[in-house]
Amino acid sequence: MPNSAEIKIDDKSYQLPVIEGSEHEIAVDISKLRGQSGVITLDPGYKNTGSTTSAVTFLDGEKGILRYRGYSIEELAEKSDFLEVTYLLIYGELPTREAYDKFVNDVKIHTMLHEDIKGILEGFPSNAHPMGVLSSLVCSLTAFYPESLDPNRSSQGVYLSIIRILAKLPTMAAWAHKNELGHPFNYPDNSLSYCSNFIKMMFAVPAAKYEVDPIVSDALNKLLILHADHEQNCSTSTVRIVGSAQASLYASISAGINALWGPLHGGANQAVIEMLENIRADGGDTKKYLNKAKDKEDPFRLMGFGHRVYKNFDPRARIIKKAADQVLEKLGVDDPVLEIAKGLEEAALHDEYFIERKLYPNVDFYSGIIYRAMGIPTDMFTVMFALGRLPGWIAQWKEMRENREPIGRPRQIYTGENERDYVPLDQR
Ligand code: ACO
Repeated sequence: MPNSAEIKIDDKSYQLPVIEGSEHEIAVDISKLRGQSGVITLDPGYKNTGSTTSAVTFLDGEKGILRYRGYSIEELAEKSDFLEVTYLLIYGELPTREAYDKFVNDVKIHTMLHEDIKGILEGFPSNAHPMGVLSSLVCSLTAFYPESLDPNRSSQGVYLSIIRILAKLPTMAAWAHKNELGHPFNYPDNSLSYCSNFIKMMFAVPAAKYEVDPIVSDALNKLLILHADHEQNCSTSTVRIVGSAQASLYASISAGINALWGPLHGGANQAVIEMLENIRADGGDTKKYLNKAKDKEDPFRLMGFGHRVYKNFDPRARIIKKAADQVLEKLGVDDPVLEIAKGLEEAALHDEYFIERKLYPNVDFYSGIIYRAMGIPTDMFTVMFALGRLPGWIAQWKEMRENREPIGRPRQIYTGENERDYVPLDQR
């Protein structure tokens, strides 16, 4: 590996250290460049900039590798359980049986919401998007647990904040959905697993017995694991940067939920289903939509296609595509948009435009189809993503805090007006 790099600005050279990650990725450390030369680097969208070193998740976009703390996503999705993966991401190791049981039990103890949260929820109009509701409710936890605001909290205090958000997010998500329907809220059932409890809170209605379908619960477990972390993506970087100002865990996660909401990020799963529905309603002509996606004059993009880092395939998409077939078959659901999705994928994978730009289906291309088969409404898809991504946000926030990272504060190159004199209002 190279030992150092040199940058030459006119006739002056600057030596920059080079650092190597545990998977041999190389970075030129430019953190002292401005101090030495007065020059900054410019990289809109951070396409080529590492914002941190991190030991949580390894991703190789060229080879399609994704590992949490060294364990492959394929193996975890096949063999593990969401709270086990949550523990792994946050604490760095798979839990022992004893540690796992304690962790699961601690989460169960905190699943209820303060009754006053109902008042906040009921203040939202029933057509409020559940992502906006979710981020507001998460931020409201700062008011119910003001001790969480202390940036110098003990590790026990931080543990309690972590357990509370893990326990309460499914209740908040299910209640946001019930509020949309105008239905009464279901209280958590702590005899059930994390996923089954969420499903029951989402779908049970008063005075009717509700049995959670294990196929649905297992599918949710897999989907949450596949979404649990994805290193320095838009929402995770948001969580880290908000947290770097020593804002609380709840304020940081609330900000992450807002970033995830965008259709270019987690909002893509909702956008994919809406797009597939539109194509179906328009006669199912996938070619027409492929051409629209290629037309630079047309703002239409093939939602669920392309990724900032995966340039050959998204390993999560492969697992989800297989799971979509299995779940729909087991549940006896025949969803015509699955055929449209497969047709679109097939056509895009053989199209020069998509091949040249290395555009492949991402994690969200098929996830919405599974959510739909499970009975989850479209506007809750991104909420499902937030439930899955929560452990990653927590792990990254905790790592940033423990590494005592400095406040995130990028520089800029100013391109506005030079200094000019103020002209009074009536003289303009
Ligand atoms: N449909 C059509 N063209 C596309 C698409 C798409 N989905 N994605 C990228 N392109 C084209 C761009 O127009 C651009 O073409 P050009 O070089 O001729 O100008 C080229 O491919 C590169 O695209 P960029 O936007 O520069 O790539 P970037 O890395 O900035 O964006 C992103 C990645 C946002 C994911 C993009 O591919 C996209 O908008 N995809 C659709 C939305 C989506 O599915 N988002 C979910 C991402 S996964 C996640 O967050 C969970």
